[in-house]
Parts: sequence; structure tokens; C-alpha cells
Amino acid sequence: MLRYDVGLLDGFLTRGEFDSIKEEIATASAALREGSGRGNDFIGWRDLPAVFDREEYARIKQAAERIRSQSGILLVIGIGGSYLGARAVLELIKGELHNETGGLRVYFTGNSLSPGDLEDLLKLCDTADVSINVISKSGTTTEPAVAFRIFRDYLIKRYGEEESRKRIYATTDRTGGTLRKLSEEQGYETFIIPGDVGGRFSVLTPVGLLPLAAAGIDTDMLLKGAEDMMKAVSSDDTLVNPTNRYAAVRNLLLRSGKSVEILSCFEPRFRMMGEWYKQLFGESEGKEHKGLFPSTCVFTSDLHSMGQYCQDGSRIIFETLVKFAQVDSGITVNREEEDFDGLNYLAGRKIHDINTVASDATMSAHTEGGVPCSVIECEKLDEYNVGELIYFFERACAVSGYTLGVNPFDQNGVEAYKRNMFALLDKPGYEEDKKRLLEKR
Ligand code: PA5
Repeated sequence: MLRYDVGLLDGFLTRGEFDSIKEEIATASAALREGSGRGNDFIGWRDLPAVFDREEYARIKQAAERIRSQSGILLVIGIGGSYLGARAVLELIKGELHNETGGLRVYFTGNSLSPGDLEDLLKLCDTADVSINVISKSGTTTEPAVAFRIFRDYLIKRYGEEESRKRIYATTDRTGGTLRKLSEEQGYETFIIPGDVGGRFSVLTPVGLLPLAAAGIDTDMLLKGAEDMMKAVSSDDTLVNPTNRYAAVRNLLLRSGKSVEILSCFEPRFRMMGEWYKQLFGESEGKEHKGLFPSTCVFTSDLHSMGQYCQDGSRIIFETLVKFAQVDSGITVNREEEDFDGLNYLAGRKIHDINTVASDATMSAHTEGGVPCSVIECEKLDEYNVGELIYFFERACAVSGYTLGVNPFDQNGVEAYKRNMFALLDKPGYEEDKKRLLEKR
């Protein structure tokens, strides 16, 4: 089971400080458990690993099988919560080079408005048969909607209307939205984003499960890990509960003047998981002019860039390290007769062990440099442990947000840029906004 270790915080946070916040954390944890907190109509993720729709899950597995048999490329079109979780888990389990290792290639698109990226991907599509999983709860988000229009047109031109319909899988709202309407008209196979689960909490719904299952991820184990974590942490409102302890540390450090959390990991394949964490915490807590700024470092590479700042820059930061005790690799440093590079002192040592030493050395250095550090330790880098980690972060985020005094489940701030963009692109209905914007110029 995942452990959250605060041993390195000695000297930064006192027992008295933990005592001072435990009542607030207990109240926040109970509010989540009882469903009595703010935004409680969006806590469907809380019990999801135990109560997900088994019939739909069976269909997801069948669809994943069909995608693999009909195509060499799966395009996953979505943005934000409809994108990050699937990509994060896929890269964490299979590595950033997953598309080079044989089997179904999975490309994520519709998460920017970069013309170059769209053109590159259109060219790549000609190298294999293509299926699409378009994911959007609202169906109206511009970036994925534009990409879907372009790639749907590509499929129709390449395969014809009828065949293309069999290659499009839509994950969207149960009843509402443009994508639901289009899917019903066209007869696309559809999967449901539960109404009470917000985008950033949706990785364990069809949003994440369909692309992950298609990519060959063991989604049974992912869900099992999340379920076991859920069972372990859901009914304990004390600081023994690791999700509550992490929420306490974040809030205590924020109150002590630390405004930036760095989530670090010594596995480059964790990079997108860091992006998922940034959305989860940034969108959940960054409101009412409050909240920690969530950031990430991928070590050891970032030790040669951000390492200087971590060690010696403005002391506004604290660090949370995600560590994997075991990885599936026995690769070692080879011995060289000549020892031309002086590395024979490492000969025979596993790279993973050297990486672990690097991580221990870094934590000591950063702690000595005045950075409060704590460690989330996962037993192994596999689906089960990643499932645990996802649930750990989701629950900690909810408790942390409640303790901060915000509604962790809304994201009204995301709407501001969308409104302005619609206005400037002359979308009908946004004429007044356009006038307001132009007056300011
Ligand atoms: O967390 C969220 O709610 C957002 O990041 C959404 O997931 C994102 O804006 C995409 O929205 P939609 O799924 O409606 O296209």
C-alpha cells in the first residue's frame, strides 16, 4: 500500500502545528465522507472504483478489442480532464516511447490549437488504419471540437460515411450536448461521462478507461488499486489517513508562507502524471485568490536546470516526491576493462538503485537548503499502484480544498478565456462581449 512519509518535515512543521490543524482536516474529511461539503453534486468519483457501471465496462473492453483489430492508430481527441488522465497513465505505465514499441499507436490531439501539430498528425494517419475516440462532456469545447471536425472529415474521405461511423467512439454526457446529439444521429458507439464526476476527476470513467484499455493497459488492476485505496482511506478522518496527512501538510505549509508545491519524480515517464496533478490541484484550489501554485520537476534532468532554484532560490517552495520502490527493470552499469570514464565503481549496480540514491541525495540536499520535503512512496510502478496513487491524489485534493475553504469541484475561472475567444471569433450570442473587449483596446 502507498505510504505518505513526512519524516523529512522535522524542523519545518512541529507536532503542535499538526495538532492545530487536525480538527479542520477532520471536518473537511467528514464533509467529503458524508457528502455535505461544497460542490457535493460533483463527488461521484469518490465511490466510483466500487460502483462503476459493470455493463458499460464490459462494452469498453469489447470496444478496445475492436479498435485494436480495426486500426493501428487510435486518435484520442479531448482536452483538460477529457485528456490528461489517460495520457498520464499510459505514459507512466508504458513509457513516453509507447508508440515505438509495437501494437496500437495512441496519439492525443484536440488539446491545443496548433496548426503544425494537426498537420503532422494528419500525415501520420496515412501510415496505418485509424480509429477515433472523441471525448468531451459538453461537446462544445473549441479545441477538441475543431480537431474532431478535421479528423472526422479525414475518416469520411478515407473510408466513406458508413465505415467511418464504425471507427468513431464518442465519450460524452449521458443526455445533453452537441456530441451526444451527433453521436445518436450518426450511430457512433458512445460511453458516458457520469454527470456527477468533473473532468479532472474522470480518469477512472470511460474518459480514461477506453483509451487505456485499447492501449493494452490492465484497467482491472488500475481500478482494483483505486478501490483498495478508497477502502483504506474513506472512513478515517484523522491524520493517520495519508490523504488527510498530505492535505494537512499542504495547508500548513501554505499558511507558513510557502506558495508553490513542486511535485517531483525521478521517472521521466511521470511527466504527464505531473500535468494531471497540476490540473487536479490547480483547477480545484486556485480560486477566490487562494491556493498553492502546483508545479512539477522531473529529476534527475531538472536537477540540471531547476535544481539551482530548488536548492538556493526564493524559499517559497516545498517539495512532494513521488517515489516508486520497485520498477520492472534489471538494467545495470557494465564493467569496462579500461575504466576509461572512471565509472567502474558503479559496475554491476542497477540503474534503478543509482536513481534511488540520486533521489535520497536530492531530498537531503533540498531539506538542508531549507525546502520542506515529504515523500509519497508507491511499492511498484504498475497499474495497481498507479490506481492507488490516482485515488490518493483525488481524495487528498478534495480534503485539501475543503480545508482551504474553497469549492474544489467547480472551475468557473476556466470560462473567462472561452467567453473572450468565442466573442473574438464572432460566435453568435457573444456580440456584447466582443464590444466590451474591443472598447478596452
Ligand atoms: O476539468 C474540467 O472540467 C475541464 O478540464 C474539462 O475537462 C475540459 O475543459 C474539457 O471539457 P469537455 O469535456 O466538456 O470538452
